[in-house]
Amino acid sequence: MTPTHPRLTLLDRLIEEFDRGLRTVAAANVAARPNPAGATAESVSEPQARRRAAGLMRVNHAGEIAAQALYHGQALTARNPEVRRALLDAARDETDHLAWCEQRVRELGDRTSLLAPLWYAGSFAIGALAGLAGDRTSLGFVAETERQVIEHLESHMHELPADDERSRRIVEQMQSDEARHGSEARAAGGHELPRPVRELMRRTARVMTVTAFRV
Ligand SMILES: [Fe+2]
Ligand SMILES: [Fe+2]
Repeated sequence: MTPTHPRLTLLDRLIEEFDRGLRTVAAANVAARPNPAGATAESVSEPQARRRAAGLMRVNHAGEIAAQALYHGQALTARNPEVRRALLDAARDETDHLAWCEQRVRELGDRTSLLAPLWYAGSFAIGALAGLAGDRTSLGFVAETERQVIEHLESHMHELPADDERSRRIVEQMQSDEARHGSEARAAGGHELPRPVRELMRRTARVMTVTAFRV
């Protein structure tokens, strides 16, 4: 009789990842840390400003869905167990971001992106490919992604309604977490990616941000 092997097969891991993906896009995500908006009073009352803030936070929510998927895709194909652990640690912070953005979109009386399953699936595939390219490239991919996310969040600080203190607190905490993820990835040996790859990442992210603002 063949002994059962405790090591998960690739198929088992893919099924586990599929299940995680479904839960990320379909179930309410629970943050491990308190919401940075805390007890700050709601100050956005004008309907147009609320719609605008909700659209921006929906974009950020979609970005966090993508971040979750990228990190888990990269962890699936990472070679070094320590790199895998670091990727999964960062993914846990992204769950907080995801939950906070989702709460904020709902507070503003709106919904998250209907295309979340698409953002998850596409990003998971990109993450798995980045992982296959080797750990240093994969860590370089994290560093570059976070650099672009920080720039993007900075633009939202200018675009959010001036009095939207609750959204701003969340975005500020996200910026600081993403900066840490980026510097940890560089310190762990992440390579600078070639310019055409960085450009492609920027364009891909642009498609998502423009689409998720509306859908
Ligand atoms: Fe994030
Ligand atoms: Fe991050």
